[in-house]
Amino acid sequence: MNMLGELLNPENRPDPYALYAQWREKSPVVRVGGPFVAVLGHAEAEQVLRGADFGHPEPEVIADDDPDHPVDAQGRVVRAFAFLNPPDHTRLRRLVSKAFTPRVIKDLQPRIEALTTAAIDQIVDAGETNLMDTLAVPLPVTVIAELLGVPVEDRERFGAWSAAMARASDPGFLLPPEVVEKAATARREFIAYFRDLAAARRRTPGEDLLSALVAVSDEGEMLSEGELLVTLTLLLVAGHETTTNLIGNGVLALLRHPEQYAALAQDGSLAEGAVEEILRYDSPIQLTMRTALTPSTLGDVEMAAGDTALVFFGAANRDPRAHQTPDTFDIAHPPARHLTFGHGIHFCLGAPLARLEGRIVLGELARRLPDLRLAGEPEWASTVTLRGLSSLPVAATS
Ligand code: HEM
Repeated sequence: MNMLGELLNPENRPDPYALYAQWREKSPVVRVGGPFVAVLGHAEAEQVLRGADFGHPEPEVIADDDPDHPVDAQGRVVRAFAFLNPPDHTRLRRLVSKAFTPRVIKDLQPRIEALTTAAIDQIVDAGETNLMDTLAVPLPVTVIAELLGVPVEDRERFGAWSAAMARASDPGFLLPPEVVEKAATARREFIAYFRDLAAARRRTPGEDLLSALVAVSDEGEMLSEGELLVTLTLLLVAGHETTTNLIGNGVLALLRHPEQYAALAQDGSLAEGAVEEILRYDSPIQLTMRTALTPSTLGDVEMAAGDTALVFFGAANRDPRAHQTPDTFDIAHPPARHLTFGHGIHFCLGAPLARLEGRIVLGELARRLPDLRLAGEPEWASTVTLRGLSSLPVAATS
């Protein structure tokens, strides 16, 4: 477990990849203590995410009839579908997918462009700014809030809850108890908030995703009220913490490779590949977990049912067996594949939206501000699972 503790060491935060490489050299799959197994190789990570041998643990049964902590008819905590196995996962994902059609995402393009333009204007006016505050945080929040139909004016409230939940996204054994407690409180506040909002949409439906999901839940057995509320929470949290980090990590990588930033400024068609290379090179999500549902062999490690696989996307994406020059950042040669959106049945539902936002933001930033430069040392946030910056000082003259 010490090996994982090292990841939390602030000194390793700017570059966890050197640590991953050291571990991966020993073996692509390493038992790190007790039931925990670190998966560092690309093929092995795919094996965990693809097959039926691994999944999520059954939701715990609790004695709790608190409406802000919904349970199902069997008394099991209602979990978001990202943390469920089939058939519940299949049913809920299918419902939500209907609202995430390519058409819906494409229609968001003009709005994302307008928000990007406004944020860049603000950067120009400020001259020097923390790009996380001016662009990387507010833009994805606004997009997902508008898509869902959540009032953007409530941003401070749900932004704070979302941050508390994101802070607790690291594996439980790495978390101080107060972080877990704050996340549980934030989750309850989210549920209460969405219950009020759903009631309002029930009275006066809008064109948004929230109204569409409320209608589905009112139709009967397909989506319970509890499922509706945790799904909305999942979408709001998943919809912005990650895309924020795609933008932040992406701008940092580009500004540290000024010749590639200049190439993007010259040729906007590089933006699509740039997004894929950023996702591979400095993944906004570094880690996911699965429980072994049956005994299996993973690399050289024998997995017992109940063992936990810690799948390190950041390590798999730099596995020399899958990528020729894994530590080189090169937007002109984006990877044929990476695991940053996951793999298999839980593949990221929001990937087309995240890609669109990334492409527009990075392309426009380089086009309009070709002389953008770092204006100080960036600071990394403390989480391991979500990898992103708390501060990215930049200077621009238009
Ligand atoms: C699932 C990454 C943006 C919604 C996932 C998974 C990953 C991921 C790795 C799979 C997790 C696992 O298998 O354990 C990312 C990254 C993003 C991003 C890197 C941005 C760069 C978004 C956006 C949304 C979203 C914008 C939109 C709402 C979801 C949902 C799931 C998911 C709902 C659960 C899918 C399922 O379990 O079937 N994401 N995501 N994500 N993502 Fe994203």
